[in-house]
Amino acid sequence: MIELQDVTASYGRVQALFGVSLSIHRGQTVALVGTNGAGKTTVVRSILGLVASSGSLRLEGRDLAAMKTHDRVRAGNSVVHEGRGLLGEFTVMENLVIGGDVDVRKRVDEALDVFPDLRGRLHDEVALLSGGQQQMVALGRAMLRRPNYLLLDEPALGLAPVMVDLVYQKIAELQSEGMGVLLVEQSLERAKIHADELCLLKVGRIHQTVASSDSARVASLIDEAFGG
Ligand SMILES: Nc1ncnc2c1ncn2[C@@H]1O[C@H](COP(=O)(O)OP(=O)(O)OP(=O)(O)O)[C@@H](O)[C@H]1O
Ligand SMILES: [Mg+2]
Repeated sequence: MIELQDVTASYGRVQALFGVSLSIHRGQTVALVGTNGAGKTTVVRSILGLVASSGSLRLEGRDLAAMKTHDRVRAGNSVVHEGRGLLGEFTVMENLVIGGDVDVRKRVDEALDVFPDLRGRLHDEVALLSGGQQQMVALGRAMLRRPNYLLLDEPALGLAPVMVDLVYQKIAELQSEGMGVLLVEQSLERAKIHADELCLLKVGRIHQTVASSDSARVASLIDEAFGG
């Protein structure tokens, strides 16, 4: 389980999170929803140690606070960043396998089966790919790591609708294999379909957490998210 308790986070003097508590179990998908600037990306960054934070952050009971970003990733997190976090001057292939073990190299075909468009681009620099193609590389890379937890910050960003369907199909597969997923998603419809729980974040605070099966509460959450 990833567990955040009373987490605050700041960029210099700008405080972005004010006491966020949430947990993600393996096999569970929690969607973080909220307007632009609500702090969704900052929650992901806190888990990875990419922003100064305080409060309690635990992974399978282990305190993450003292761990550097790459150790947190090694401990079982994998991430698709908003803005992708790819190495533009490296090739698609290099980006897919970088930092991965031998197994990851062996499994590159898995990612290429999901995103066949990348097959012909394997030896091109990532910077030369379109935005959507770069997103495919980022997702492919995260999937190849077979992490226990997948942190997805707007995984559908920049993808054509048919690709969005494909990506979510893949996410559903990973869920059923027991992965825990934190999903940042602008589309409440998608969040509702793919997550077990919806967490509404407003100005750095969790306002409501509802089970996605609870239609009445989901409706009220949507109302609150958009209703001001
Ligand atoms: N690098 C930064 N330096 C200073 N302030 C930042 C930085 N990144 C984010 N912030 C601030 O932190 C707050 C939360 O931002 P965050 O990126 O987490 O929002 P978000 O919910 O992911 O928004 P979006 O839907 O637009 O991606 C915002 O007020 C934003 O201005
Ligand atoms: Mg964001």
